[in-house]
Amino acid sequence: MEWLYKDAEDYRSYIRRGAFFKELDSAKTPEDLSWVHQLVHQSREFTQALCLRYSLCHDKTYQSIFARHAMEEVDHPDQLLAWMEEHGFLKDKLAGAPPTRETSNTLSYCWRIATREPHDVQIVALNLLSEGVALDFYNAVIPVLRRLNILSGRYWNVHSDIDDQHLRLGLETFGDVAPDSPKGQTYRRVLWQSADLYHQMLSSWVGKTAAPLPMLGAREVTYA
Ligand SMILES: [Fe+2]
Repeated sequence: MEWLYKDAEDYRSYIRRGAFFKELDSAKTPEDLSWVHQLVHQSREFTQALCLRYSLCHDKTYQSIFARHAMEEVDHPDQLLAWMEEHGFLKDKLAGAPPTRETSNTLSYCWRIATREPHDVQIVALNLLSEGVALDFYNAVIPVLRRLNILSGRYWNVHSDIDDQHLRLGLETFGDVAPDSPKGQTYRRVLWQSADLYHQMLSSWVGKTAAPLPMLGAREVTYA
């Protein structure tokens, strides 16, 4: 399934060139990181989607994979809140702000995948793509927090350790699926939809609207 991994990596590289990652590098003070209030929503609801996925799973092949993933994420939202408390983010005026429309859209998609889609499709969306974007996000954010002197606690560093494992979780159950087979086409569509939603979500965190992400293979992709 190298092709699937490669497609996910290609989408991730477009997302890494988006507005969020550009703005992140120019942060001068912790006040420039107001997106952490959106990250709380993402962290809480993504974790809940993982717990729900495990709770609904009847298939023994996937139960232990989904249990491990849910268990390893389950206290992350509270670790994030503890870090925010330590550095004063919970006192700022954006504390408790509702999710942006794009954040809600992405989380709604994760919940929908967890409740309606087959297990392999869940792995494409909630592991390969979501955890891949998460890995890129934490790898980019951690050096900025270090530079601003606010890198502390378990929340941030735990991700760079385990997201790389989480993104591969379950892929070994796939067997050989050709990219142009009906199943392969489904995986490609789900990858694209997930990537596009994350791209929109992260851009909304810095007040920008992203152009829709082109589908790989549908036409030549250019990024403005
Ligand atoms: Fe993870």
